[in-house]
Amino acid sequence: MKNPFNYLQLATGENFYDRREMLADLRSRFLSGQTNVVLYGPRRYGKSSLVAELVASLEKAGVICVSLDMVKMPTLDIFINAYATKIYRKLAPVRFGVGQVASFFKRLRPKLTIDANGEAGVSFDAAAAAMGQEELSEVLDLPQKLASGRRVVVVLDEFQEVKDLLPEDGFEGVMRSVIQRHGDVSYLFLGSRYHILRRMFTDHNRPFYKSALTMLLDKPPEEESAAFVAKRFKSGGLSISAPAARRLVTKIENIPYYVQQLAFETFRLVDDDGRRMAGPEDVDAAYARLAGFNRDQYEQLMLNFSAAQKKLLLALARESATEFDDGYRSRHSLGASSTVNSAKKKLIEDGHIEQISGRCRLADPFFAEYLRS
Ligand SMILES: Nc1ncnc2c1ncn2[C@@H]1O[C@H](COP(=O)(O)OP(=O)(O)O)[C@@H](O)[C@H]1O
Ligand SMILES: [Mg+2]
Repeated sequence: MKNPFNYLQLATGENFYDRREMLADLRSRFLSGQTNVVLYGPRRYGKSSLVAELVASLEKAGVICVSLDMVKMPTLDIFINAYATKIYRKLAPVRFGVGQVASFFKRLRPKLTIDANGEAGVSFDAAAAAMGQEELSEVLDLPQKLASGRRVVVVLDEFQEVKDLLPEDGFEGVMRSVIQRHGDVSYLFLGSRYHILRRMFTDHNRPFYKSALTMLLDKPPEEESAAFVAKRFKSGGLSISAPAARRLVTKIENIPYYVQQLAFETFRLVDDDGRRMAGPEDVDAAYARLAGFNRDQYEQLMLNFSAAQKKLLLALARESATEFDDGYRSRHSLGASSTVNSAKKKLIEDGHIEQISGRCRLADPFFAEYLRS
């Protein structure tokens, strides 16, 4: 049977569940324009998938969407070239010559390029070192200049990474001042290092303060996740008992990525056995198999943590916490609260632990299992 689950690709269409309200809300905001939104939440909860669905539905309604993943933009020079090319491809009229493109820039000298796939793009005749605030400002202005009355949405995934592209809050400062004049273009900022991202938009000293509506993407309701698992099993030609579907969801703490991964593995195990129905013991067996897969990676990871970080990880694997009070710290021999707090801060920034609505826990349920074993 073809496995109906997929944890490696963004979930869209049939393979996408829940999030209907948030999708409808975002869709209507971007259709009417005049909003910028920042959507934050831990990795693997489904931000990029949600936005892929959103983009598909906006494009159907005639809105032009341009998406860029900032994780792939390590330098300002790379960003400027990639951004110009993306915007040009989506927004420039066909047979738009280099002369017309050049008219949008004062400092930058664009060339039209053709890549190996025959796709047109823009690049600039400038040394990487020459790229600075002015050049950034010109290129960020491009979508508004090319929009000519059409509605445009620019999606910048893992937006917090821009902080490394210019010193201080340079990138944010330039971008804020450019985009506040953009009447036809709305911006959707996404990010997983959500403490950093949230600070960018809620700290009153930062350029983006109050410039976008802030939304948190939390987990879907557990019943929705269980119903999705059952429905997909059926569409793949097998079935799963209701208790098994519930067990699957709770075992990996209802995180969409792991729901897909554990469901994939459970489906595979039952199918390979030539059976038609998955029960709770199949879920447990699949879980044990997955927990084993990553041992090597976790061992490697452990080598790089400080002692305080390791102790905190071990503690959180056994007991999630809202507060590291005296009781918690002494139960887990964690020492002074200042030590715990700096370990916590680093682990959150690196995505190993997450804190949502005050509660701290490990981001990866299989890593937690490894630490408990
Ligand atoms: N709404 C959803 N429905 C089904 N699966 C989902 C959903 N959201 C996320 N997933 C699963 O989780 C994985 C990670 O989602 P992704 O959108 O990349 O999360 P994020 O961008 O928050 O890190 C996807 O590849 C998919 O397997
Ligand atoms: Mg993502």
